[in-house]
This record gives sequence, structure tokens and C-alpha cells, in this order.
Amino acid sequence: MSKITTATIRQMKTEGRPITMLTAYDYSMAKLVDEAGIDMILVGDSLANTMLGYDSTLPVTMDEMVHHVKAVCRGTEQAMVVADLPFMSYQVSKKEALRNAGRFLKGSTASAVKLEGGREIAETVRAIVNAGIPVVGHLGLTPQSVHQLGGYKVQGKDESAAKKLLADARCLEEAGAFCVVLECVPTPLAKLVTESLGIPTIGIGAGPHCDGQVLVIHDMLGLYPRQSPKFVKKYVNLHESIAASLKQYKEEVTARTFPAPEHCFNMSEEVLKKLY
Ligand code: KIV
Repeated sequence: MSKITTATIRQMKTEGRPITMLTAYDYSMAKLVDEAGIDMILVGDSLANTMLGYDSTLPVTMDEMVHHVKAVCRGTEQAMVVADLPFMSYQVSKKEALRNAGRFLKGSTASAVKLEGGREIAETVRAIVNAGIPVVGHLGLTPQSVHQLGGYKVQGKDESAAKKLLADARCLEEAGAFCVVLECVPTPLAKLVTESLGIPTIGIGAGPHCDGQVLVIHDMLGLYPRQSPKFVKKYVNLHESIAASLKQYKEEVTARTFPAPEHCFNMSEEVLKKLY
């Protein structure tokens, strides 16, 4: 299979083929995701939570993002890698946004960037696209604006918020974004946005009518000990399996049953005798 490009993603919407996207933040996980045939890997700023232990996405820096994007790219052959522009890397000026978007592509094989927001960032999206860098939009619950939104809650529930979200989505398409993530949006509104746009929508907590789906990999693999949001399906509970393996390792080392002979290296008796 050949490398997934923006053309592939657009074509998938045209043909009604669902687009799959997952986050990954390191080489080994990216390799697994890529080998599973997932179309897009998002190096999300959610790595602030999953990898760095912060309680929001706000603290993660461009340098930290670049470090993880490079690792993910080394583990990816086919999937399209999308790098998330972190909080305050694109809001201050178009010039800074361009420089930061460019850093992702220059230092790795990432082929697109993601930004949060609608009309207010449309001109920034246009400038990045004009520089030849594909852009993924992100509407609905935009975690970088958690303080303005008053918490992590479903967005676009009343008429004016729903109309604004629809207008923002059209604005992003018009500015040149090639797809848009819809996070925590009522299913009927996500369906309307999906039908209204020529570009694909990728939903997370936005129901089944989006053109694709994305999940945070730590949530779907049950790597997080905390309660997951309602929209997450836990496909496996890796936290439990890993915790059980670590406990067993401690017990075996304590009981001297690990390492067993099959984990050890031997040497000739003759050499050994000389040492004694
Ligand atoms: O950072 C992230 O993981 C994201 C997804 C939730 C879409 O933006």
C-alpha cells in the first residue's frame, strides 16, 4: 500500500469509505498503529496528559511536540502523520504560526498540522495552506480553550452555538483545511456539518455520521487508570494487564525464580576454573 496523502483522504469521503485516525506519541505505538492500517496518526497535544502527566493540554511546548512527532514519524510508513500545533504556537501571529507549522514538516516526515478554532483562525489556516502545508481543523470541544468554554463539555447544543459551529466549519473549508475534527458535538449536528462540507469530518464524541473517527490511543487501549469520557470505547484494559505483569515480575525477582536458565548466558567450565 502507498503512503496516505490528502488526496487519499478526500477521495475516501467521495467514495463513502470511513477514515480511521488514532493518536500516537512514540515510535513503538506508531509502528503498531501504522501496521494496523490506520489511515492517519495524530500526534495530539493530548500528549500533555497521556505522556507528560499534565492535567490539561495547555503546558506542552513546540519543542516537546517536535520531539514526539519525530519519534512517531520514524515508526510510520503508510499512515499520514498529523502534528498538533500546541497552545500559543499559532495564536499570536500568522508569522509565528507559519514558522511553527514549518518546524514540524522540516524536522520530520509529518505531512499536515492541526489547529483548534473556527473563523478567528481562518486567515492563519489560509496562510499555512498557502505555504504548502495541509491543515486539519478542530471544532466543538477545543481543549486549548477549556477555560473559555468553562470545562470539558458537549458543544453546539443550542441554536446559536450550533449555527456558529456550522459557519466555522464552512469557514475552515473555505480557508483551505482538508478535513476537520469535530469533538464532543451532538450526533445530529455532526451529521449536518458532515453533509454540508465537501471536506471530510473526523469525529470524536460526534456520533457515527462523520466521515471518519479518531480516539486517543491511551483511552481506547485502557492505558489510563482514570475514568474515560462517555464517547470512548475501551477495546482492551492494558492498565490492568500491565499492572499484573509488573506485580508478577516483582514477585519472581523477589523469589529468585526470574531469571530462569533460558534467560541466562553460560561459559566454558575451563575458563571458569582459571578464574577461580
Ligand atoms: O490532541 C488530541 O489528541 C486531539 C484529539 C482528541 C482529536 O486533538
